[in-house]
Amino acid sequence: METTSFDTDLSLFKYDHLEQLPAAYRDLEEPEREERITAAREALGDDVVLLGHNYQRREIVEHADFIGDSYQLSKHAADADAPYVIFAGVTFMAESADIITDDDQTVILPSMEASCPMAGMAEALQVDVAWAEITAATDANIIPITYMNSYADLKAFCAEQGGLVCTSSNAHRAFEWAFERGDKVLFLPDKHLGENTAYRLGMEDDIVEWDPWDPESKDPAKVAEHDIILWEGYCQVHERFRVSHIEQIREEHPDAQVVVHPECRREVVEAADVVGSTSTICETVADADPGDTWAIGTEIHLARHLARWHPEVNVLPLCGDACMDCNAMRQIDPNYLTWVLEELVEGRERNVIEVAPEEKELARVALDRMLEV
Ligand code: 13P
Ligand code: SF4
Repeated sequence: METTSFDTDLSLFKYDHLEQLPAAYRDLEEPEREERITAAREALGDDVVLLGHNYQRREIVEHADFIGDSYQLSKHAADADAPYVIFAGVTFMAESADIITDDDQTVILPSMEASCPMAGMAEALQVDVAWAEITAATDANIIPITYMNSYADLKAFCAEQGGLVCTSSNAHRAFEWAFERGDKVLFLPDKHLGENTAYRLGMEDDIVEWDPWDPESKDPAKVAEHDIILWEGYCQVHERFRVSHIEQIREEHPDAQVVVHPECRREVVEAADVVGSTSTICETVADADPGDTWAIGTEIHLARHLARWHPEVNVLPLCGDACMDCNAMRQIDPNYLTWVLEELVEGRERNVIEVAPEEKELARVALDRMLEV
């Protein structure tokens, strides 16, 4: 297994009130940690709901009240009555939970270093500049759509400009919503999800890329000619998969079927049998017949969970040992979880994610529009 190394120049850490793990928590061994997490959770009772994204490590998901994809977990956060929501995921997910929970609920991200680099590839300030350039290139009405994997300020920007948020499962519906109201779509930050969605809608000839780091790619004439403008962002974990991985798995396991996340490259999605969000990937394996073989094209921890949760199915990581873990997700170390829980028992809140009120209100509009589609 390999770990992602991030090569973007943009700041990875959205929040600057990083609190490091105290020395006393750094070397906890699993048996002691398990006991302490269980004791803290018992002491806190219904005051805490713990959400675990599908990509979290086993030691985290085993303690989660709910495990799921980013959107499902935000909904669980909104439905929870608990005053504290501990989100074992990445910053944009905890922000989304803060946006849709009540004002008297507090969202905690155990480690502030858990920042998705793809979300950091479209920073609101940079998008502001690009928006001015793109809108100057055409008189057409452009609707911005941001993927859930983005920060609250970009979600707020999209709302302000008449746009919305989407997830990997409803991106096509968000595009349709936008084309009912405008002429063109600017999709951020994941170019692969954008391209895969354009193909799904039969609009593959309408795509143009906008690379904010490359002056040559910013061609106003091309923007005027195409209806789908894709921001040059990507997930390094999913970009890793290649068609050759699918060919190899089919050669080694002729009965294997392949399911991949839509953040994968176009040709990988085309070669796979099923494409879908992490919850679709989970459902695909859950619905498989005993003895079926499924190769999983997404972050490695989910492939491992699925193999554990469904021993009757032959679950394989799509690229074997070369599959990657997400370095951002991995920042949620179980020792951090122990620390934030024990601090709450003592009445101290650590690593709280709080979206600024004006941003929160607008971002909420973009999320609500998504619920309409
Ligand atoms: P899901 O919304 O499918 O859980 O995906 C989140 C993510 O970060 C994928 O890389
Ligand atoms: Fe971000 Fe990719 Fe990690 Fe998902 S897997 S959180 S998109 S870096």
